[in-house]
Amino acid sequence: MNYLHSITELTNEEIMTTIQRAIDIKNGKTEKFPDIFAANLFFENSTRTKCSFEVAERKLGMQVIPFETGTSSVSKGESLYDTCKTMESIGCNVLVIRHPENDYYRNLKGLNIPIVNGGDGSGQHPTQCLLDLMTIYEEFKKFEGLKVVICGDILNSRVARSNYHALTRLGAEVKFVAPEEWMDHTLPAEYVNIDKIIDEVDVCMLLRVQHERHEKSASYTKEEYNAQYGLNSERYNKLKEDAIILHPAPVNRDVEITSELVEAPKSRIFKQMTNGVYTRMSILAQVIEANQ
Ligand code: CP
Repeated sequence: MNYLHSITELTNEEIMTTIQRAIDIKNGKTEKFPDIFAANLFFENSTRTKCSFEVAERKLGMQVIPFETGTSSVSKGESLYDTCKTMESIGCNVLVIRHPENDYYRNLKGLNIPIVNGGDGSGQHPTQCLLDLMTIYEEFKKFEGLKVVICGDILNSRVARSNYHALTRLGAEVKFVAPEEWMDHTLPAEYVNIDKIIDEVDVCMLLRVQHERHEKSASYTKEEYNAQYGLNSERYNKLKEDAIILHPAPVNRDVEITSELVEAPKSRIFKQMTNGVYTRMSILAQVIEANQ
């Protein structure tokens, strides 16, 4: 893995290698890269991705260069390319970037430093996808034949896009649940009524309603959204015994999921965050090895 921009770049074999290496690290395998400098350039807010990359880098023994857009020369108008070229020039070895622009990495092709995409607009979120896949794989030890429903703001979700591509390629059956205004018909998945499918799914993946990406306010109240598209106690009780609930978080409690279900026995929401550190360690280790 020379870099990671989009989940679509990875073969199924590379996905499985990444998951297995993350599981090995979680089980105690030591990986150390003490001479490597990493910078996390986040041009969009983040808690999980930014912090878990930093934990992953520190666990790998890397040196983490402090960078905040507000106190950097980005505030003087420096371009993304020039910021990244600066990091390359001062000896940084890997960049993790989150940016509001879809496909921002296409404008950075001339750089000689690997980029790991921490999320681009509504495009891709490959590291979130890989940690979701690790969490599913730990549970079921396979993808082939699993029934997955992804519910919510599909149109604006880079998580939905990445997971749809990866899960279908790995043999899972993916269906969507969404209000008409948040459907994305560029993805060839079937849209279904959540109540028609809730008792059949192995994985129920809920998505955050991304208010910040909406041009007009939603035509639903919190209660209406939860009643029509969210996971509430009634639907939770219909889930199969071994079904699991995922959500990339942050969670809008009582919207996508009723608050008391966030830590319910079938929820793997906080396990996803734990697995995110190991997945990101696996990705960084492979990218650094490929560029040495
Ligand atoms: N899941 C996710 O990307 O969360 P953050 O926006 O907090 O990084």
